[in-house]
Order: sequence, then structure tokens, then C-alpha cells
Amino acid sequence: MILVTGGAGYIGSHVVLALEEAGFAVLVLDNLHHGHREFVSPDLLLTVDLEDRQGLAALFARYPIEAVVHMAAFAYVGESVRRPELYYRNNIYGTLCLLEAMVAADVRTIVFSSTCATYGEPEEIPLSENHPQRPVNPYGATKLAVERMLGDFGAAYGLRSVIFRYFNAAGAHPHARIGEDHNPETHLIPLVLDAALGVRPHVTIFGEDYDTPDGTCVRDYIHVCDLADAHILGLKYLLAGHPSRTFNLGNGNGFSVRKVIDTVEQVSGQSVQVRVGARRPGDPAILVGSASRARQILGWKPQYPDLETIVATAWNWHRYRFGRQTSGYVPVIVKAQGIPLVGV
Ligand SMILES: NC(=O)c1ccc[n+]([C@@H]2O[C@H](COP(=O)([O-])OP(=O)(O)OC[C@H]3O[C@@H](n4cnc5c(N)ncnc54)[C@H](O)[C@@H]3O)[C@@H](O)[C@H]2O)c1
Repeated sequence: MILVTGGAGYIGSHVVLALEEAGFAVLVLDNLHHGHREFVSPDLLLTVDLEDRQGLAALFARYPIEAVVHMAAFAYVGESVRRPELYYRNNIYGTLCLLEAMVAADVRTIVFSSTCATYGEPEEIPLSENHPQRPVNPYGATKLAVERMLGDFGAAYGLRSVIFRYFNAAGAHPHARIGEDHNPETHLIPLVLDAALGVRPHVTIFGEDYDTPDGTCVRDYIHVCDLADAHILGLKYLLAGHPSRTFNLGNGNGFSVRKVIDTVEQVSGQSVQVRVGARRPGDPAILVGSASRARQILGWKPQYPDLETIVATAWNWHRYRFGRQTSGYVPVIVKAQGIPLVGV
């Protein structure tokens, strides 16, 4: 049985589905602070906090947990700058509680959700796993601290880990009613989709004078189902007895903010009001990762690398979600090339 912490969140709920599809028995630990009860079957969900040491001990005593996929964390960069204590406590101390409970229960296999935010300002593009890690915000610092903790627990207690450094998760499951739903939302694609739906009046481009082809920042978007698939491969890699390893999970292709907005307009058929603001401090011009190590060692091959499909699946979810909140709304399903969507 695999324990997924944060399994009621955006990426976690997709990982839970992928694990079930791959034949694993799954248990979800989530305090529902940011998670969504309806994203997980009720029989899988344990509403437990990472810092609840007794709850963790009881859970490991009761269930035959073979490995943990650890996704529970706070993940808002801006909030981490304003309220660093929340991040140091939840992301580092929370993980420490989990690791101690794991070692006490003799569970020594873990897949961890880290981030490209551990790299900081890029010295070269694409970023490889060997790029120096100098995070420029507390969120990245807490994820880097956990990476180091995993290394130390590996040396001391034989804990084996796969660390995945995600770039920007995006899109939604093409068949299930789950998708991105952060509160507050800070990610570009859902913000632009909100503007297309009229839920937000406009979207702001922070700087259009960068040294990029259209002057706007370029980022690496990876479909959430492709991320989920990588977790299955990472888990199988560890369960086969391989040593700890770190992998970037990204698309390898960058898309500019303007390109994202154009694609949303094209997929949705709606126009998006745009405002141009000043650059945000600490926003690099280009952040694109190399995932060649995951491709070579894990055999990972993203199924949905094109931006149109990423946006179309996100749009499909967004309309469904918005329709649920608005009486009398009938969701219209967008067909993305090559993948059948819900209700089609
Ligand atoms: N979304 C991205 O683009 C992205 C990029 C890089 C890394 N990550 C990492 O991936 C993971 C999942 O991100 P997401 O976007 O799905 O976020 P999310 O907020 O949707 O999911 C996180 C889940 O963890 C739960 N959680 C948080 N603290 C907890 C605690 N103390 N005890 C129990 N449950 C707790 C929340 O309730 C939530 O369901 C996070 O670790 C995040 O740092 C995300």
C-alpha cells in the first residue's frame, strides 16, 4: 500500500488516480487545508496533519504502508516571503515528523515533490539537476532543506528517495473531474482561464521587456498527468531496489506568457483582457528544465507536451468547476486534439 500525503490537492489527486490505475493500493493523508475532499474517494482519505505524530504512528501501525509519496506542503512563493514561519514549520518540521514516523515503522522508501524553485536564478538554460541550488525565496529554501534531510536520513537510516523537481504543473485529467483549484490562485494558466471566463476582469503581464522572443517571461509547463506518470515510474524504480536519485520533471520546451494568453484565446474562443505591469523582483526571463535524466533512467515520456492540449484540458476542467458554482450553467466540453475529454 502506498501512502500519498497531500493526495487531496491538485497534483496529489492526479497521482492517486495514476497509482490506482497502475494497480497500487492507495491511502491518502491530507489535512484538507488546501485540499479538496471531493478529489479523493472517501474510503481512501485520512484527514490527518503531518505534525500529528500520534496520528502518523497510528496510521503506520494500522496499514501495511510500503512506500510514501510525499506531496503535502505549502507552495505559495509570495506567501512564503510574507509568512516564512508557516513554510519552515509545515514543509520542514511537517516532513521531519513524517520521516521519523516512517523510520520508526521501518518504511524506508519515499518519493518527494520538490521544485525548480530550489535552483534560484538560472546560470544556464535548460536547467539540469546539477545546476547550483540557491533558492531566492523561503518556499524554495524549505524544499531544499527537505532534499538535504532526505539525504541525511538516507545516510543514517537507509531511507531511499526519489526527489522530483517539478517545473510548472498545468492542465487537468482528461477524464476525471479533478484539476487545478488553488486558493488564492497564483499560477498563470488558471488566471488566464479565469479572465477568459470573465471571472477575473483581466490578466496582468509582469514585464514585457525581457530578453525573450516576445519580451515576456518564458516558463516550462508540464501536464499534471505526465507528472503523475513519473511518480509511478519513480516508485517502481525505488521498489526495484535502485538507489536514491533526483530528477527534474519538465517539458523541456518553454512557453512565453504571451503565448499562453494567445493559446487560451484560441482554445476557448474568448478574448482575454491584458494589462502590462512592471517586472516582479526575482522573476528570471527564462526557466526551462532538462528532464533528460528522467527520460533515460526512468523511461519517462510525457504524453501531453504541447501547450494546446495542456490548456484545453485545463479549460475543460475550469468550465466544469465554474459551472458547478454557477446555477443554470451547462458546461461545454472542448476537444483537445488526440485526447477524448469528459462527456465527449
Ligand atoms: N503546482 C506546481 O506547479 C508545483 C511545482 C513544483 C512543486 N510543487 C509541489 O507539489 C506538491 C503539490 O502541489 P499542488 O500544486 O498540488 O498543491 P496543493 O495545495 O493543491 O496540494 C497540497 C496538499 O497538501 C495538503 N497539505 C498541506 N500541508 C499539509 C499538512 N501539514 N498535513 C496534511 N496535508 C497537508 C493540502 O491540504 C493540499 O491538499 C507540493 O509539495 C508543491 O510544493 C508544485
